[in-house]
Amino acid sequence: MDKLAVLALIVFAAVMALPFVWCTADDPEKVAEWFRALPSAKEKTTQLHFYFHDTVTGKNPTAVPIARAPSTDKSPTMFGFLSMMDDPLTVGPDPNSEPVGRAQGIYGSAGQDSLGLLMTLNFMFTSKEYNGSTLSVLGRNPIFETYREMPITGGTGVFRLARGIATAKTHVFNTTSGDAIVEYKVIILHY
Ligand SMILES: *[C@@H]1O[C@H](CO)[C@@H](O)[C@H](O)[C@H]1NC(C)=O
Ligand SMILES: *[C@@H]1O[C@H](CO)[C@@H](O)[C@H](O)[C@H]1NC(C)=O
Repeated sequence: MDKLAVLALIVFAAVMALPFVWCTADDPEKVAEWFRALPSAKEKTTQLHFYFHDTVTGKNPTAVPIARAPSTDKSPTMFGFLSMMDDPLTVGPDPNSEPVGRAQGIYGSAGQDSLGLLMTLNFMFTSKEYNGSTLSVLGRNPIFETYREMPITGGTGVFRLARGIATAKTHVFNTTSGDAIVEYKVIILHY
């Protein structure tokens, strides 16, 4: 075989292998079918409760700094700081409790005068009936307030067309390490 054929085979094998690993989305025809059935679908409310583990120090951080402005270090709110997270979600506050998914995305300091993070992330669920489904969050997170309310702007899988609210409450914040465990309660409308 020439080099091109080998390359084509490798690409083909990679593309073919992917669906078996990540078979979480339906084909577009099934998605269209789901939309056609919407008029007779009933809207329901689902509540989720889990803990989010943001580890920024140690050997295996789950959130890593990716950018900062030249002025970030001089800012009282670290304005301009950006971090990429892949934080585990568990049923309980104990990091070793049953995993239910990951929070993948970016948070950054978006407030100059008061600390408010821009949160843009996907909750990717891995447990039971929610396995493979996601919820998208786009909101403001003033982390030192008791409760922070962030919009759920959409979802996939069992959460298609979801909209709702995620409420975050810090369970533990280690001021030395910066690591945090945050309790999340999510309420959504979906079909
Ligand atoms: C979730 O789905 C993946 C594949 O899509 C599968 O490998 C995994 O075992 C499933 N997990 C659970 C808890 O069902
Ligand atoms: C907070 O973090 C520091 C530094 O990593 C660690 O030594 C300490 O044990 C942590 N405190 C708690 C209560 O986990």
